[in-house]
Amino acid sequence: MYPSASPRVNELTPEERAIYATLNPERMPQHVAIIMDGNGRWAKQRSLKRFLGHQQGAKSVQQVMVTASRIGLPWLTLYAFSVENNLRRPPAEVNFLMLLLKSYLESNVQRMMDNNVRLQSIGRVQELPGGVQEQLRLAREVTAHNTGTTLTLALNYSGRSELVDAFRELASEIESRHLAPERIFEEDIRRHLYTAHMPDPDLVMRTSGEMRISNFLLWQIANTEIIVTRRLWPDFRGINLLETIADLQRKEQRRDENSEDVTQEKRRLKRR
Ligand code: FPP
Repeated sequence: MYPSASPRVNELTPEERAIYATLNPERMPQHVAIIMDGNGRWAKQRSLKRFLGHQQGAKSVQQVMVTASRIGLPWLTLYAFSVENNLRRPPAEVNFLMLLLKSYLESNVQRMMDNNVRLQSIGRVQELPGGVQEQLRLAREVTAHNTGTTLTLALNYSGRSELVDAFRELASEIESRHLAPERIFEEDIRRHLYTAHMPDPDLVMRTSGEMRISNFLLWQIANTEIIVTRRLWPDFRGINLLETIADLQRKEQRRDENSEDVTQEKRRLKRR
């Protein structure tokens, strides 16, 4: 028997199913967030232009989305385009990424529908080119009533600008409700984040071996496990998502065992 909360586990490949069968169904993550990195290096290793790395990266997005939906992962968040990407990459690369995003959205709405995926985005999307905004709006509207995985694309996103936006909203609320500073709590900040309606991620995963958070979900990852894999994003597949969830469960188990050891040691010392 597979630990199945999702009726679509039978659509996994045999290799994916073998890993899925080792997972603890009680401890499946609710929210996986991914920093997709290594498109440029993937292309360089093959003496290809960076653009082709991004194109291959878009195929990985497609595949990971489908696997996430097959295992019934409720929330999948992908860091697709950061504020830093927008400001620092050469304009030709930014333009290419925008075209790729637009064409990804156009050509994947049907796949999202077939997989019951609901699309949404976080970030300062209003600063993206009009055509991309329009395609995003369409994909969001068409998939709005799907009940499987929610795929959130972080676009023109940075954790700090999210906090600035949240504090701006909070400041005007404080002003209009004449709130005293000591009546502001964590919850008041949380409910003004782009992710107010989402659970915090159980896991942030980064590809291509870099140990950096890169301004991603800064508030939300206060207690999140982080796993870094050396695999480059264009080589990342659904099976690698399952392997990472297996790693996460091993980490969580070790953490539980350690805290159980500490509790027992404390009890032993108390009895003395
Ligand atoms: C970084 O690789 C990756 C990005 C710029 C963001 C991810 C973008 C994609 C996967 C492209 C398509 C996305 C969608 C949603 C269709 P890099 O260029 O920084 O790699 P490097 O560090 O090896 O140079």
